[in-house]
Amino acid sequence: MKVTVVGAGNVGATCANCIAEKDIVNEVVLLDIKEGVSEGKSLDMWQTAPINLYDTRIKGVTNDYAATQNSEVVVITSGLPRKPGMSRDDLISTNAGIVKSVTENVIKHSPDAKIIIVSNPLDVMCYCAYLAAKVDSSKVFGMAGVLDTARYRAFLAEALNVSPKDIQALLLGGHGDTMVPLPRYTSVGGIPVTELIDADKLHAIIERTKVGGGELVKLMGTSAWYAPGAAAAQMVEAIIRDQKRVFPVCALLNGEYGMNNIYLGVPVVLGKNGIEKIIEVKLDNEEKELLANSAKAVRSVMDVLDNMKMF
Ligand code: LAC
Repeated sequence: MKVTVVGAGNVGATCANCIAEKDIVNEVVLLDIKEGVSEGKSLDMWQTAPINLYDTRIKGVTNDYAATQNSEVVVITSGLPRKPGMSRDDLISTNAGIVKSVTENVIKHSPDAKIIIVSNPLDVMCYCAYLAAKVDSSKVFGMAGVLDTARYRAFLAEALNVSPKDIQALLLGGHGDTMVPLPRYTSVGGIPVTELIDADKLHAIIERTKVGGGELVKLMGTSAWYAPGAAAAQMVEAIIRDQKRVFPVCALLNGEYGMNNIYLGVPVVLGKNGIEKIIEVKLDNEEKELLANSAKAVRSVMDVLDNMKMF
C-alpha cells in the first residue's frame, strides 16, 4: 500500500517521517517541485529505518506524479506557510493555484485516493481541492481539528498537570482565529473539564488555542510543523488501518449543522472510505452563534476564491 505526501517542506517531511515510523504502508512517496529536496529528505529518513525499526520505503521525487500512481491516501501540504503578521487567509492568492494544480495531478494518477489537505487557508483550500478533484466530498477533506484539539489538549494537560492521553476534546469551525473549542465536550478521564478548572483559566486556554498557530509563527518566523505533520499522519493511519476514529475534520457540509456547500471542522468517523459519517452534536445558542461566526469568516475567503475565477 502506498501513501503520497506532496510538499517536502517542514510539514510534508515531518508527516512523511511520522507515517514511515508507524510502519503501516509499504511505501511513502514524498514529492516536491524543488529538485533534490524530497530525494535528500527521503534518503535521510530512510537511514533512520534501521534505528527506528520500520520497513516502509520512502521515495523522494521531483514533480514526478507517475511515481504517486495508485496511492491510497495523498496528503497535500504544498504552498507557502505564514510569516509573522500574516493571517492564514493572506495566503490564498498564491496557494489556491498551487493546490488546484497539485490536486489535478494527484487525481489523474490516483483517482480513488483519499485526499487530505493541509495547505492554508485550510477550509477554503479544501473547497478548492474538492472542485479540482471532482470526486465525492467524502474523499477530500482537511487536517485542522486534530491539530487544533491537540494544542487545546496539550495546554489543558499542562494546566491540570495530567497526562495529555486522558484529555478528550472537540472543536468545531474553521482553522482560523474564529475556531470554536467546545468546553462542554471536553473531558479529562471521563470527567467534564469544567469540574476541574476555573472558568477564567479555561477561557484563557481556549483563547490561546484559537491563536495557537500564530503563537508559533511569532516564535519561529514561519508556521509550525511537528504537530501539523503528526496530526496529518494520524489521519492517514485512521484511513489505512480503517480505524473508524472519531476526529474533528474539515469536511464539506451539505445540510449538517444547518449549513450548505461549505468546508468546516466537524466531528467525523474516519475509515478506509475517508469520511464515513459526519456526526452532528447538539449545540446551545452560544455555540451555534460562534459556529455561524466562524462560517462567516470562511465564506468571506471563499468569496476571494470565487473572484479568482479559477473554476
Ligand atoms: C498551524 C498551521 C499549520 O496552525 O495552520 O500551525
